[in-house]
Amino acid sequence: MPDLQQYLQDRRAQFEDDLIELLRIPSVSADSAYRDDVARAAQWMADHFRTLGLTAELIELGGAPIVYAESPPVPDRPTVLVYGHYDVQPPDPLDEWLTPPFEPTRRDGNIVARGATDDKGQMLTHVKSAQAVLATAGELPVQLKFVIEGEEECGSSALSQMLREQADRLAADVVVISDCSQFARGQPAITYGLRGIAYFELRLFGPKQDLHSGTFGGGVTNPVNALVQMLAALIDDQGRIQVPGFYDDVATLTDRERRQFAGLPFNEQAFIEKLGVDGVSGEAGYSTLERRWARPSLDINGIGGGYQGEGGKTIIPSRATAKFSFRLVPDQDPEKIGASLRAMLEELCPPGIRMELESMHGAGGLVASLDSPFMDAAAKAIEQGFGRSPVFIREGGSIPIVSEFHAALDADVLLLGWGLDDDNTHSPNEKFSLADYHRGIKASAYLWHELSKVTADSEGDS
Ligand code: BES
Ligand code: MN
Ligand code: MN
Repeated sequence: MPDLQQYLQDRRAQFEDDLIELLRIPSVSADSAYRDDVARAAQWMADHFRTLGLTAELIELGGAPIVYAESPPVPDRPTVLVYGHYDVQPPDPLDEWLTPPFEPTRRDGNIVARGATDDKGQMLTHVKSAQAVLATAGELPVQLKFVIEGEEECGSSALSQMLREQADRLAADVVVISDCSQFARGQPAITYGLRGIAYFELRLFGPKQDLHSGTFGGGVTNPVNALVQMLAALIDDQGRIQVPGFYDDVATLTDRERRQFAGLPFNEQAFIEKLGVDGVSGEAGYSTLERRWARPSLDINGIGGGYQGEGGKTIIPSRATAKFSFRLVPDQDPEKIGASLRAMLEELCPPGIRMELESMHGAGGLVASLDSPFMDAAAKAIEQGFGRSPVFIREGGSIPIVSEFHAALDADVLLLGWGLDDDNTHSPNEKFSLADYHRGIKASAYLWHELSKVTADSEGDS
């Protein structure tokens, strides 16, 4: 049998071609116009697992199919659940892409396409590593269970149902996820914390049709005025969110963690310049890394209403809408925050306006224990794949199902990000470094080996 290193070297082009094939499928989960493509991506994944010799099936629970694949059990060795998602964010604005989002292009050592880093490229590293180990050793040193879903970008409701109804099937000692980032180029990381999320759409309805703002202005409540007043009341000028009780359950940052964040090589000026802004702001009393990783936040994601065309138009619009989301930290509860938010907005809603508040999705945040033999195993594997030992970080994004895995499976969670902060996730010209793709595959191949050395005894020690 060929040697693993040699195999990884020889198959570089094939591994890239496989990724490109998957990236060509526009599996946008948020938009029903792409439903067939979402199904096609799921089928591609299942077929791919089968060609590696794993059993694979599509689990249909109403939304996008969940792809489930597994290798044979290995007695006395940990079971590893690998989670990832094959769905992607919508590609717009299309005119800002240098090459079309679903025509993957190699550029400057990267593969550029929607889904390149989030999450097709990162997720596939674990599939390709399984392929490499199977081809060179004939078997995997641990049982792998892959659960690759198609609704991560819109709330993971099917997988959440599967977890409630078939938790036994997903039973594992450790969950491995590559759907986040390295700390910086050349500095890999293990992410031990993610933020949760609570996402809302607020719709305000005023007069039954647009009105002349001269004839009626000042005497009839304007829904866009009402919307901006209501939204502005949600946060003060110190960056403190004003929803009653919002901070009640916030897990405070320990001094040890604050020191650890402060010790990371983070250059604020470089960060500012890279974003093309002239400064940053946020909750008073916290550093930029603390604000992004370990403090809650509020962002209005989109706002609409009234005249947006050329020139001026003097109207009182008949309606206004906003989509906004809170990032949450442990131990905030998205439902409790939703209820408090609703009461607050109803209170603020002025006469002449009917309001609708829709809660779109919610998930809790996560902080994983650093004292786990699986963490040590992952650190060793990363060192072998990336040639440098990882730093331990938290990140500000959310993977809605992660806190549910943690709770329902009583498993440790390893968040091993191969991406970079400037990969343009959810934005035009999304990319993933091909060097990191191959390093990720290599680290992953070593990971199966390192995890196999973690025995029930050492697990119990932690
Ligand atoms: N891969 C991201 C999550 C992520 C981003 C983790 C950056 C760490 C750093 C994931 O695909 C994502 O975008 N999640 C959404 C969830 C939401 C739509 C419910 C998010 O964080 O906005
Ligand atoms: Mn993702
Ligand atoms: Mn995403």
